[in-house]
Amino acid sequence: MDHTGAVDALLQEERVFRPLPQIVIEANVNPQEYRMALEKAEQDVLSYWEDAAHELDWFKKWDAVLDDSKAPQYTWFPGAKCNIVYNALDRHIDSPNKNKLALIWEGEPGDQRKYTYYELYREVNRFANALRSLGIGRGDHVVLYMPLLPEVTIAMLAVAKIGAVHTLVYGGYSAKVLRDRLRDVGAKLLVTADGFYRNGKVINLKHIVDEALSGADAGGVESCVVVHRANVEAEMHEPRDLWYADLVRRESPESPTEVLNTDDPLFILYSSGTTGTPKGIVHSHGGYMVGVNRTLNWVFDIKPTDIFWCTADAGWITGHSYVVYGPLIAGTTTVMYEGSALYPQADRLWDVVDRYGVTILYTAPTLIRMLMRYGTQYPRQKDLSTLRLLGTVGEPCNPEAWVWLYKNIGHSECPIMDTWWQTESGMILISPLPLSLLKPGSVNRPIPGIDADVVDAQGQPVPAGKGGFLVLRQPWPGMMRGIHGAPDALREDYWERIPGGVYCAGDVARKDADGYFWIQGRADEVMNIAGHRIGTAEVESALVSHKAVTEAAVIGVPDSIKGEVAKAFVVLAEEWDADGASLDDLVRALRAHVRAELGSVAEIKTIEPRASLPRTPSGKILRRLLRAEELGEDPGDMPSLVQDDDA
Ligand code: WTA
Repeated sequence: MDHTGAVDALLQEERVFRPLPQIVIEANVNPQEYRMALEKAEQDVLSYWEDAAHELDWFKKWDAVLDDSKAPQYTWFPGAKCNIVYNALDRHIDSPNKNKLALIWEGEPGDQRKYTYYELYREVNRFANALRSLGIGRGDHVVLYMPLLPEVTIAMLAVAKIGAVHTLVYGGYSAKVLRDRLRDVGAKLLVTADGFYRNGKVINLKHIVDEALSGADAGGVESCVVVHRANVEAEMHEPRDLWYADLVRRESPESPTEVLNTDDPLFILYSSGTTGTPKGIVHSHGGYMVGVNRTLNWVFDIKPTDIFWCTADAGWITGHSYVVYGPLIAGTTTVMYEGSALYPQADRLWDVVDRYGVTILYTAPTLIRMLMRYGTQYPRQKDLSTLRLLGTVGEPCNPEAWVWLYKNIGHSECPIMDTWWQTESGMILISPLPLSLLKPGSVNRPIPGIDADVVDAQGQPVPAGKGGFLVLRQPWPGMMRGIHGAPDALREDYWERIPGGVYCAGDVARKDADGYFWIQGRADEVMNIAGHRIGTAEVESALVSHKAVTEAAVIGVPDSIKGEVAKAFVVLAEEWDADGASLDDLVRALRAHVRAELGSVAEIKTIEPRASLPRTPSGKILRRLLRAEELGEDPGDMPSLVQDDDA
């Protein structure tokens, strides 16, 4: 393989990659501005963020930059009135962006749809009016269970425009998960599609929705709006189910934008935390829009002519911040692709870059590692010369994948922004900027205004090169407002985990002598499978809900493509083979059972039956011990936030 030599050299020499002078000179933040920003943020961080807030439009400006009187329940820009949708759409209609392309969408079969800012604005207004006519208003909850269609953007913006709150549930989750979310947020409305295309096949989404809504415990969903996408059979239950097209047809393309408080909720997005049960992370309008706007413009250096493509699904935080809200606020043109990167063959990403002239590509290490397996034949056949910046997110980017991306996709000229952040943070926190010296595998340094560190369990900074907990010492504008339905969780799970009043991210990291951060993985019992956070406890409870399993322990083990995959240890019920099934049959059945319970996102790679599981005296499963055994490591090697005893 042609990249092996480069990687070897890199690892031996500890090479750094220097951006081309042209990129540095033309960057939105040049070295002098960067130094000034760092200085300003150090001297007066609130005034630094206030400058960032002035780049956006507000109905009423703030009384103060930060209200920390109820810390850690921080309120950014208290007293201000705003709406993120005003910044993402309305203001562009009175600017030269009006007729610029906002969205280029491509379906897996090759169909395309394009929207200018004006067209998107009109569509959003139509759907906003339709939502109002269905009785949805300020503070109401709407769940979106949708494939990556333009309507996902339209629905998110329409919901936010009228002051309602959206919750996206990724299409890879099961009916049961969808039902849990509908109930937990108390959704009045669900937006979905009949189906979508994936790997040349049509997936029927409406069937899953019907299953979710048929349960008595689905909460109070009054209406279900269905986008007609895949022409599959969809049973429409009247009066609950409505076709999207019928609903918006007669609506006016003008609709007022609700004037909201800065801390009014914008969305709730579920993510697994230490406890294993997914938490509903709440973000609000004001601070979040400032955070995503600043980071998109600084890290991804948005220029008027850019074509920005973030390959994430809208169902994850990356999709919220850098597919939908960030790019639209920044007034750039964004690309969305519905389907698989391998369809019809493994050149689809490069083909999309070539055909639309993508200039910035933001993707996941998992995807890079998967596409690397096909060699350089595909990228070589496409014109990738329009690319000027690359980015990765979601999991550590190993140097091999970094160098492959740099050489073969970025023609050895595009800096790679390895961005560290989380659902909770809302915005990128640690990342290079285009002017930075890059070390493959490192997420570089905190962006100006962010104070990050690596500390031990007592909150003391650890020496350079030593692993510890990644913490943030100061609040930042994109931070979550809290956890839905758990008023104490923000404090207990994040700000009080480590002494010293710092925010504990739940990651293990180290800082090198140059102050560069290297993320090593989660410090809690959360797996990162192909860049998606899945709690071990979620998978365990799915396993024990099968009658053949009495106990289960799940751990994440390294995988060359997905970064991590799930391995399960199960103790079987005595009668597990009563119906004559073989162990192979049972393992297959258990895998299918977990898929049915949680969805395809929580695929288990291996299942190993055991006579018993190691436990603490108080009965807690020692997952750390199982993991260490599996990997032949010392269980004390990785600092952990999870205590092995119940003390
Ligand atoms: C991990 C995704 C290494 C980390 C935006 C974090 C990363 C979790 C990186 C958040 C990165 C994210 N390098 N690890 N560049 N970015 N992570 O909430 O463990 O889906 O805590 O947000 O992904 O995952 P989440």
